[in-house]
Amino acid sequence: MDRRLRVGLLTGGGDAPGLNAVIRAVTKSLILGHDAEVIGFEDGFLGLIAQRIRPLSYGDVSGILTRGGTILGTNNKANPFRYYKRGGADVSSQVIAYARQLGLDGVIAIGGDGTMSIANRLDEMGLPMVGVPKTIDNDLVATDRTFGFDTAVSIVTEAIDRLHTTAQSHQRVMIVETMGRYAGWIALHAGVAGGADLILIPEFEYSLDEVARVVRDRESFGRSFTIIVIAEGARMAGGEMAVRKTLDDSPDPLRLGGIGYVLQAELEARIKSEVRTTILGHVQRGGTPTAYDRNLATSFGAMAADLVAAREFGRMVAVQDGRFTSVPLAEVADRVRKVPMDAPLVRAALAVGTSFGVPELAASLDGARGEGAVV
Ligand code: F6P
Repeated sequence: MDRRLRVGLLTGGGDAPGLNAVIRAVTKSLILGHDAEVIGFEDGFLGLIAQRIRPLSYGDVSGILTRGGTILGTNNKANPFRYYKRGGADVSSQVIAYARQLGLDGVIAIGGDGTMSIANRLDEMGLPMVGVPKTIDNDLVATDRTFGFDTAVSIVTEAIDRLHTTAQSHQRVMIVETMGRYAGWIALHAGVAGGADLILIPEFEYSLDEVARVVRDRESFGRSFTIIVIAEGARMAGGEMAVRKTLDDSPDPLRLGGIGYVLQAELEARIKSEVRTTILGHVQRGGTPTAYDRNLATSFGAMAADLVAAREFGRMVAVQDGRFTSVPLAEVADRVRKVPMDAPLVRAALAVGTSFGVPELAASLDGARGEGAVV
C-alpha cells in the first residue's frame, strides 16, 4: 500500500462505561500495529453529518482508559437516514461522500442496536464499516456480552446491598428500578448478585398477586423486609409498560421509567409493610468501568482495528461461548436479545427461592438442568 491507512471512529447512542477504553484501544493499536491515521467524529453520526472531526493521536488517547463517558461525545438522535435537524431527511449519500472526501478506508462505529443498524445500512451503501458492541443493557444479538453491562451490574448490586441494610432496619419493602429497556439482563444479574427476593423483568409479565404473596409470606416468617428489583421495561400481566416520555426525533422514541412507583402503589394496597422505591437511572451509565469492562473494551477495540486493517468490513466484533469472534452487521441490525426463560441464571435464582412474580415459572422449568452459557 502506498499511503497510510486512514480510519474513522465514532461513538453512537447512549454512553456506557468503557467507551474511552475502546477509543484508546482502537487508536493505539491502529497507530502502533498499522501506522494508521485515526479520525474521530464528534457526537456520533452527527459528526459525519455535520462534518465535525477530530484527529486522534497516540497522546490524545493516553490516560483515558479509566474515564467514564466518551471523549468524542455521543448523540442518540443523529440518524443519517432520518436526520432530525432536517425534518427527517435522508442524508446518507452526503455522509458517504464526506467519508470518501476524507479518504477513509473504513469507519469503526461503537454503539448499541441503533448504531449497528445504521452502520449496516451505510456499509451496504458502500461505506466500509466495523461495529463494536456497547450498551449497559447487554441486549445486542450475536454477542454474549456488550461492554458497559458489567459496570452497570456492579453499580446496581452495590445499590441493592445498601438498600438491604436500610430495608432491614426499617422493616420495609424496597423496590429498586433498573434500566435495560426491553430486556431484563441488568435486573436479573444484579438482582441475583444482590440476593433480591423478587426480580421482575420484561420477559416475564408479573402477577401482582404473586408479588404480594411473596411479601406476605416473608412477613409471616418474621422476615419483615423484602427487596424487589424491577427492570424499567417490566409490566404486570395485562398491564402497560411505564413510558416516562416520548422523543419523536429519536430513532427509539420511548423513554421508559417509573414502573417501580406503579408497583409501589399497587402493593401498598395489599400488604402491611411500608414500601419505598429507588429509581437508579443514569447513575448506572456513569463513571469508571470495572476491570472486566476495561478488558472487554480493550479486546474489542484491538480486534476492530485488526478487522479494518485486514479490510474485513460489514462485521461487528463479538464474544460467543467465551471466545472472541466477529459476526455480520446484518445479523445484529434491528434486533434485540432478551433473557430466555431457561437462562441458567434464571434457574439458579429460582433454585435459591427467588421469585420472578410468575407462580408457574419454576414448575414449567422442572426437570431442566442449569446448563448453558454463563450469561
Ligand atoms: O440503552 C441504554 C439506556 O440507558 C437504557 O437502559 C435506557 O432505557 C435508555 O438508555 C435511556 O435513554 P436516555 O439516556 O435517552 O434517557
